[in-house]
Parts: sequence; C-alpha cells; structure tokens
Amino acid sequence: MSLLERAERSLADYFEQLVGPQTPPRLAAAMRHAVFSSGARIRPQLCTAVALACGDDAPALSDAMGSAIELMHCASLVHDDMPAFDNADTRRGQPTVHKAFGEPLALLTGDALIVLAYQVLAHAGATQPHRLAALMRSLSAGVGVPSGIVAGQAWECEVRADLSEYQRAKTGALFIAATRGGALAAGADPQPWMALGNYLGEAYQVADDIRDVMGHAQALGKPVGQDVLHGRPSVAQSLGLAGAVLYFQGLMDQAVESIPACGARELLSQVVRRESERLVPTSMCEAVGQPYPHLQAVPAGLSRTAHPSGNAVA
Ligand code: IPE
Ligand code: IPE
Ligand code: MG
Ligand code: MG
Repeated sequence: MSLLERAERSLADYFEQLVGPQTPPRLAAAMRHAVFSSGARIRPQLCTAVALACGDDAPALSDAMGSAIELMHCASLVHDDMPAFDNADTRRGQPTVHKAFGEPLALLTGDALIVLAYQVLAHAGATQPHRLAALMRSLSAGVGVPSGIVAGQAWECEVRADLSEYQRAKTGALFIAATRGGALAAGADPQPWMALGNYLGEAYQVADDIRDVMGHAQALGKPVGQDVLHGRPSVAQSLGLAGAVLYFQGLMDQAVESIPACGARELLSQVVRRESERLVPTSMCEAVGQPYPHLQAVPAGLSRTAHPSGNAVA
C-alpha cells in the first residue's frame, strides 16, 4: 500500500469508527466535506515515511498520528478560510466549509476536527500507552501556543510579526510534528528528524507564497493573490519572486541533507525531490531565472511531471 493509500484508509476508518450516526447530520457532512477532498496529505505521508525509516513496529500508532495531524491541518484550513481570517470561497477545488454549510457549522467543524484528532490518538494509543504522552505533546506543540498553528495565525493580529517566526508557527510546526511523530510512533528518538520537518515546513510555506503570486486559482483549488489582498507577510514580497524561489531551493537542499543516515535515506531524498518539483516546478523556477540544477539528479521513473498548478506561470 502506498503512503497516500495508508493515509486515506486510516482517515476513512477513523471517521467510520468515531463520527457515528448520532452525530448531527449536517455537522457530520461538513466534517466530511472538510477532510475528504483533494488534499495532498503530505503531512501524514511524511509521518508514515519517517515511521517506516525507524522500523514502524506499531503501524496502527503511526497511522493514527498521521491521521491526527491531517485532521488538525484540515481544521486549520476550515478556520483559516472563514471571513474572520482569509475569507476564501474555495478550498481544494470546492466551496469552503462556511460557503457550503454556513459560518456556525464551519466554526464547529474546525472544533470537532481538533477534538477528533485527540480522540484518534487516544484510541490507537491504548495499545502503546508509553508512547502516547510524547505523541500528544508533539501534536500539541504543532498546533497550540507558544509556536504552533494557533500562534502563527495569531501573529496576523499583532502590529509587528517576524516573518520566519510567523511562517514557522503557522506551517512549519505541524511538519515538525509529522517527522517527530513518525519517529515517536515507532519508538525511536525524534531529535534527528526535527531538522527535516523544519526545513520542509518552511519550504512548504515559501512555496505557498510563491504560488499565491504565480499560480492559478483553478489549478490550486483555492484563490490566489490573497497575501497582498490581506496584507499578509510573504516571502515572495520580502525577497521578490526570484529570491523566494532561490530560498525555496536552498531549503529543499537542506531538507535532503538533513535526512539522518538510515536504510530509507535514498528513498526519502527522492520523495523530497519529487515534492520540490510538485510545489515549485522547473517551469516556475525558469520563469523567474532560477533553474534548479539539482533536479536533474532525480532518477528516471520518479515523477518529474508538474502539479497541475505547476505550469500556471502568471
Ligand atoms: C495549505 O496546505 C496551507 C499551507 C499551510 C500552505 P497544503 O498545500 O498541504 O494543502 P492541502 O492539504 O494539499 O489542501
Ligand atoms: C494557512 O496559511 C496556514 C494555516 C495555518 C491554515 P495561508 O492562509 O497562507 O494558506 P492558504 O493559502 O489559505 O492555503
Ligand atoms: Mg491564512
Ligand atoms: Mg488562507
């Protein structure tokens, strides 16, 4: 089973088990709308990939951690899209939850998904109670205060925010939870895996900033031009597009270099390289005069095709 299939199956199984028929039907439908859409599932896949690199001796636990992280991510998107934040009409190519179900249910959907993430962990952790506390701590650090998603979103309400602190909190922290969580679920030391989550998380938000300028709404499944519209700090603005692409490439190189020595190092490097091409494809790099020579090293057979958004260079 591929990493993506594992992620999808685990989410579907937990919905089946935990969002029972007693759930108010419109809330259940809104939760499904938020989760079972065309998300890339990059965070749970990263969590599972690290767990596999560490032996994955408790796959039910690594799947649960991946699902919990994806549920937190989906909750953050529901709330991020609401009028109080980015006021977006589309997400993952469909109407946002508040557009489809109204604001009260969107608020409750985000709340329910956050709680569901902990329910999932509590469920799976019953068989590995000694690993559960560390997983809970790691997940909480990725989403709460002082430097998880909630803190990251809250920097938007401050008069001044440090750009890298803002981005590390709103996006990077959950990537760190994914790499740490994969190691912890497999009973391994999470420390060597933190740098990978850190570099990938920052690269991911830098790519999001670049695509907000260079991407097309239809291909991305969400509106573009939002950072300027809402006055959000953005790497594309602070470094310019060419500078942002160069910075992204550097972060991806550092992500690859940070992968600890293990049997899965080569495979993980290939996954990171492929993700790099999906996020900011060669066509985008070339359009701003920053060709990426390292990508030539991606072995044949791995996806070099651009994400649909990839060729959408403005
Ligand atoms: C979007 O995340 C929000 C950011 C933190 C950049 P993704 O790009 O992973 O979105 P999905 O899950 O694939 O929709
Ligand atoms: C979203 O950041 C990060 C979250 C914590 C939800 P953005 O507002 O930049 O992400 P998109 O562009 O809406 O996906
Ligand atoms: Mg936002
Ligand atoms: Mg947004």
